[in-house]
Amino acid sequence: MPPTKVILDMDVGVDDALAILLALRSPELDILGITAVAGNAPLSMTANNVLRVLEAAGAPEIPVARGAARPLTREPEAALHVHGNDGLGGAPVPQPSRLTFDDRPAAAFISDIVMAHEPGEITLIPTGPMTNVAHLLREAPQTAARLNRIVLMGGAFALTPYGFGNVTSVSEFNIWADPEAAAELFASGMDITAVGLDVTTDPTGSINAERHEILRRSADPSAQIAATVSAQVLERYGVVNLHDPLAVTSVIDPTLIQTQRYPVEVITVDGSTRGQTIADRRARRRSDSPNAAVATAVDGPRFLDLIFSRLTQRA
Ligand code: RIB
Ligand code: CA
Repeated sequence: MPPTKVILDMDVGVDDALAILLALRSPELDILGITAVAGNAPLSMTANNVLRVLEAAGAPEIPVARGAARPLTREPEAALHVHGNDGLGGAPVPQPSRLTFDDRPAAAFISDIVMAHEPGEITLIPTGPMTNVAHLLREAPQTAARLNRIVLMGGAFALTPYGFGNVTSVSEFNIWADPEAAAELFASGMDITAVGLDVTTDPTGSINAERHEILRRSADPSAQIAATVSAQVLERYGVVNLHDPLAVTSVIDPTLIQTQRYPVEVITVDGSTRGQTIADRRARRRSDSPNAAVATAVDGPRFLDLIFSRLTQRA
């Protein structure tokens, strides 16, 4: 089976970095490009972090474009308290020496790549706020329609015991950071798979101290990078949740997650429900107008096996 052509849209961040490392070791994926968006950190950091991780992982040939420095209408609110002052866990990953950014803004970069391929060939995997995706939908709707599907990390749908928020009790960061962008995406009619906190915070698929030690002890360069960028998160929170790697892995091996189709509504009003993603579980509504396949379960052990086997394969 030929590899799946993907574009990653990221706010590199710790778990975004782990997702890049995994994607680079996955023959099932053909990474056509990576776009950066403001989210975990300001755009200058998230974009630079893409270059840092690619160069450290020995993959300088992948093109990188910069996207939105701020949400559609709101002020940017980074999460440096989680991802460290540089957005990469304060890890000693060198600054890029020879990589540069594509001249095009993210939406044009994505649009040009998509238009250069057949309809339905490319999967877009957003793992940050959906701002760049919203710009693509607004500026190049015909291009967006040529995408095969969008597999996003985002949302908290209250569909498992872990399906509560991480910014408010009901809101997940990627959606909360730019709820207007997410609302436009969920209303777009695109083929959306949403991998939310319901499954990404399932402890059977997270890295605890014991599992982190496996990465730390491995001589594989990717394992070393993964261990260093995630060390601060492990120290602060006792666990490294693999939010973005699970979105990527669900494209590599769709059997690792289970999904159900629901109508999903994104709350954009200010307050504790800002960024809430409501999956309408009423039977008729589910049959009438579902707009996303929402992840409802993950095979955590198999997910971890896949990640660890690929990040430690060279030593
Ligand atoms: O809520 C988790 C998501 O927000 C992850 O994508 C993390 O990188 C941050 O962007
Ligand atoms: Ca992210």
